[in-house]
Amino acid sequence: MNFDDVWINAISYYTPERILTNQDFERIVDTTDSWITQRTGIKERRIAADNQATSDLAVAAGRRALEQAQVSPEEIDFIILATFTPDMPLPAAACLVQMKLGATRAAAFDVSASCSGFLYGLSVASGLIASKQGKKALVLAADILSRVTDYQDRRTCVLFGDGACAALVQTKKTGFGFKLVSLKIKTEPSGFDLLTIPGGGSKQPPSSYTLKQRLHYVKMNGNKVYSFAVRGMYEFAMSALHDAGIQPKDIGLFVPHQANSRIIHSVRLRLGLSEKQVYINLPRYGNTSAASVGIALAEAISEQRVQSGDYVLMVTFGGGFTLAGAVLKAKDSND
Ligand SMILES: CC(C)(COP(=O)(O)OP(=O)(O)OC[C@H]1O[C@@H](n2cnc3c(N)ncnc32)[C@H](O)[C@@H]1OP(=O)(O)O)[C@@H](O)C(=O)NCCC(=O)NCCS
Repeated sequence: MNFDDVWINAISYYTPERILTNQDFERIVDTTDSWITQRTGIKERRIAADNQATSDLAVAAGRRALEQAQVSPEEIDFIILATFTPDMPLPAAACLVQMKLGATRAAAFDVSASCSGFLYGLSVASGLIASKQGKKALVLAADILSRVTDYQDRRTCVLFGDGACAALVQTKKTGFGFKLVSLKIKTEPSGFDLLTIPGGGSKQPPSSYTLKQRLHYVKMNGNKVYSFAVRGMYEFAMSALHDAGIQPKDIGLFVPHQANSRIIHSVRLRLGLSEKQVYINLPRYGNTSAASVGIALAEAISEQRVQSGDYVLMVTFGGGFTLAGAVLKAKDSND
């Protein structure tokens, strides 16, 4: 795919106000702040209010992206929302976002690619823009994992938080922006049963049995997911860099999926990157699934961690197993 005309002209995020700390978890399950910190790097996460659904988080992030790019909702051709916790099974949560934003001209649909969702959404949007099926796509990623987290399972409940991110993808470069240099997605089905929500779909529809067995919550084999993540993220980082024609040393900032600080550390060492080259906000948000890399990139920009002309490497993994890698280049004086 030739991404010559594909620009990301805004990136923003929204996280709910309520904070759930490791100390809070000490009162919920048999755990300690030091176990969670040492094994995951997480200190706290954000939790959606009872009256917030996934589309509300996405709308809040989306409005900020539109403001940043000075684009009105009516100009949007596509609304693509990456999520596996939609408001309801039908319609797609993207349709609710469209309605709430008043983006009346757009085609709206969801993408389900677990924690890689933002980059999968970006991939779909880039294809639509590069093939000139439209000019402006709002790519959103939002999940309310607290609604599918089993707060009786200490092996999983400490990991996840809620949040949303949004990016405006378009042909036109405006004041701020990234050029998409490479973007690759792939799925490895061998791990399909290692990270799942087994109940509530067509295989095991909601019933008193699925409720009693707690099948509507995330089930995970943490050790196997961990091993896959380290290998998969490294391979995908190298592949995205290869496609971009650059090497790890050329990266201005590495923005990995924020799942576990030990995973990020291992991948960083394998890539030969310094700590300064990696952005981590995991201690404050935990794993926000599809939104994680978008939130991280938006925060990194606001903290001036990305300079004009920098290459940014983003790599994700998630249930499926999904993998994605992208190289972006911050606009410089030649663009
Ligand atoms: C989940 C994860 C943090 C567990 O860390 P780990 O070092 O592999 O720990 P283990 O699962 O081997 O468990 C070690 C011990 O800690 C215990 N333990 C698990 N969760 C605990 C918690 N929250 N608090 C205290 N002890 C805990 C286990 O029961 C086990 O005890 P045992 O030895 O008596 O059986 C780690 O495997 C991980 O991060 N995996 C990847 C998960 C991920 O990223 N998922 C999202 C993908 S997008």
